[in-house]
Amino acid sequence: MIRHFLRDDDLAPAEQAAVLDLAARMKADRFAHKPLAGPRSVAVLFDKQSLRTRISFDAGIAELGGHPLVVDTQVTHFGRGETLADAGRVLSRYVAAIVLRTHGDDRIAEVASHATVPVVNALTDTYHPCQLLADLLTVRERCGGTAGRTLAYVGDAANNMAHSYLLAGATAGMHVRIAGPAGFQPDAEIVARAEKIAAGTGGSVRVLTDPVEAVRAADVVATDTWTSMGQESDGQDRVTPFRPYRVDDTLLGHAAAEVIVLHCLPAHRGEEITDEVLDGPHSAVFDQAENRLHAQKALLTFLLEASGSARSDLAS
Ligand code: CP
Ligand code: NVA
Repeated sequence: MIRHFLRDDDLAPAEQAAVLDLAARMKADRFAHKPLAGPRSVAVLFDKQSLRTRISFDAGIAELGGHPLVVDTQVTHFGRGETLADAGRVLSRYVAAIVLRTHGDDRIAEVASHATVPVVNALTDTYHPCQLLADLLTVRERCGGTAGRTLAYVGDAANNMAHSYLLAGATAGMHVRIAGPAGFQPDAEIVARAEKIAAGTGGSVRVLTDPVEAVRAADVVATDTWTSMGQESDGQDRVTPFRPYRVDDTLLGHAAAEVIVLHCLPAHRGEEITDEVLDGPHSAVFDQAENRLHAQKALLTFLLEASGSARSDLAS
């Protein structure tokens, strides 16, 4: 069976832990793992902008011994009538895996349902699961583990990062608190799914509007832009309701003394996070960005192996 990674809970708790274990081993011995030797190719396709995702997949696939094919879809036939189903079928004839950043989840689901190789979500409107693997690797490194730790995400609680924190954090056994203003709350179905996962992992989920209550004694405080890609002209006021959620020294003062701060980047300095916090002693943001590389290398290795199409690096 082909294993895709379209949303965070496509990895069961033990599988997520195995990917993070492998990511740590790959980070410790960066050029030792070559499951894509051949080289086998991986298509990395972008319907939206990117810096980190684009470069970390490109470099990571090369480090695995493979050949990255990084393409902006405006130069393909995606926008002029070629169906995503046909694209999934065709690309599967060329490459070992397909990585896609796109808009609606229906788009990546359509590619996956016709692909015969693993498909990876490199960000959609609803989820950013590769980012969460990097975030969890960072939490492991800085906090000694994920289970039982409290993670507070404050800001746009209706966006892809909020949803991925809910699902991936619950899968990792974390106590996840999500706080955003009225009208910017997470999808109720995703919250319910996260609650169900947390019940099995010893984690928990709380959705709040009060940012201070959310960050109180938290081990991890995370935020993200108030305006995600594609929302620039959605007609909503994306500044005024979010001001109380800015991560500054005052808000951070309510967290645990050894709190770490995460932001997936790009940051809008002075909006959702201040320079003092982003560049301050609690920030783990640049380790977090580096960990995209290691986590995605491990994820690709896991998916290829679980799909029966790679030699094992998990046990090494
Ligand atoms: N964090 C993240 O996904 O960054 P990019 O949009 O630059 O890829
Ligand atoms: N929520 C942001 C994340 C960027 C990496 C967006 O979707 O634009």
